[in-house]
Amino acid sequence: MKRSSIVIAGGGSTYTPEIILMLLDNLDRFPISQIKLYDNDYERQKIVADACEIIIREQAPDIKFLATTDPEEGFTDIDFVMAHIRVGKYEMRDFDEKIPLRNGLVGQETCGPGGIAYGFRSITGVMELVEYMEKYSPNAWMLNYSNPAAIVAEAIRKVKPDSRVLNICDMPIDIEERMAYIAGLNSRKEMDVRYYGLNHFGWWCDIRDKEGNDLMPVIKEYVLEHGYNLESIGKEPRLNDPDWLKTYRFASELYKTDPSVLPSTYLKYYLYPDHAVEESDPDYTRVDLIREGREKRVFEECRRIKECETAKDTTLEIGVHASFIVDLARAIAFNTHERMLLIVENKGAVENLPLTAMVEIPCIVGSNGPEPMVIGEIPWFQKGLIEQQHAVEKLVVEAYFEHSYQKLWQALILSKTMKDADLAKTVLDQLIEANKDFWPELT
Ligand code: NAD
Ligand code: G6P
Ligand code: MN
Repeated sequence: MKRSSIVIAGGGSTYTPEIILMLLDNLDRFPISQIKLYDNDYERQKIVADACEIIIREQAPDIKFLATTDPEEGFTDIDFVMAHIRVGKYEMRDFDEKIPLRNGLVGQETCGPGGIAYGFRSITGVMELVEYMEKYSPNAWMLNYSNPAAIVAEAIRKVKPDSRVLNICDMPIDIEERMAYIAGLNSRKEMDVRYYGLNHFGWWCDIRDKEGNDLMPVIKEYVLEHGYNLESIGKEPRLNDPDWLKTYRFASELYKTDPSVLPSTYLKYYLYPDHAVEESDPDYTRVDLIREGREKRVFEECRRIKECETAKDTTLEIGVHASFIVDLARAIAFNTHERMLLIVENKGAVENLPLTAMVEIPCIVGSNGPEPMVIGEIPWFQKGLIEQQHAVEKLVVEAYFEHSYQKLWQALILSKTMKDADLAKTVLDQLIEANKDFWPELT
């Protein structure tokens, strides 16, 4: 079996260790010759890299490992770029969440004004990675988790339509794992799903087991009462994060808006923005919880591994986030034709949405990339919501490339999370000020 060479871009991410552990766990089905970490923050990446070096040395000493901040070194001789950068890091996520919230609006990493602000930073960083890949390893594939995935995907479609970049999200995967438990199965891999929408803006319209039995009724019955929260069946894996528990439970409300389908949890920011604002504290947002939770936990464990010079007793865990990206790389490397949800150009797959929309739909994935599955016509409710959000994303990307204040203001006005145009302007001006080191200058 061919051995792949991988660079993880955003090597200093809190998700890097679990991806490495997952890769090491799957060497029999996805062999690897080399793993590199690339980041533009040497100090941050070093914390993670020191631990990863020890983990790899102990589990697979024949895999070459290096960590670098030099693009040429990072991107040369690569088959896969696994990208998860956060341009501006948590310092800037703080503004994305708190500026809108202080104005009474949804303050979220990928949705509403915060997502738009993050998108404006992220396009620059991700496009840079695409250019490095095309320069130093033109045959490689980039599997991109960097958020906001919808906006990043649209930017790449617009200016580099032929690039080998696949944009992905772990949210549907995470929810499908929950659905599998609800239906009494062991894994999402025991189901076939049909799903459509934009990233963080979608619905499942069909879920079956491998014998073709319809699982929607049993899942719906559960979701109506508990959402996707698994506490009542004792299967909740994220017990230490109260935000997510609430978000999963709230899916029951989202479900009631259209009981013919099953919703993505992110719809709460668009369908119930007032609720989302009410349950938030503008002085202590998700980023604060993550810095005291995930970041602290992962980085402390990395430092402990380095200190002990061993990872034999590590508490680092592998989640669905890592499993999805490894499955995807494997599908491309070995032409497995696995069915996976990806963010791809519509091109008619959803009949009544624009041809150039970047939709999230099931695709069959092989060595030549994804082959999207036909979804057909979707109902008015979803079509209306999607088209509004899709126009927001198109306007953000046009605003970025044209340096247009007007279009960015329109994008904010059009977001379903926004109340009125004056407020949109106020928030935009505050975001411009906070992002002045990252955004192109707007005229
Ligand atoms: P993090 O801040 O811990 O890590 C991001 C890393 O990216 C940092 O080390 C930072 O220095 C680096 N970075 C920033 N700009 C860079 C650039 N231009 N070039 C190279 N490196 C750069 O963030 P995190 O919380 O671990 O999340 C990482 C990313 O993954 C975020 O974009 C997050 O939204 C995304 N994510 C996406 C999904 C999904 O479903 N698509 C799931 C989880 C995380
Ligand atoms: C989900 C989403 C991601 C998001 C992640 C982390 O998995 O799909 O896009 O980045 O949650 O969110 P958090 O708020 O925990 O950083
Ligand atoms: Mn996501």
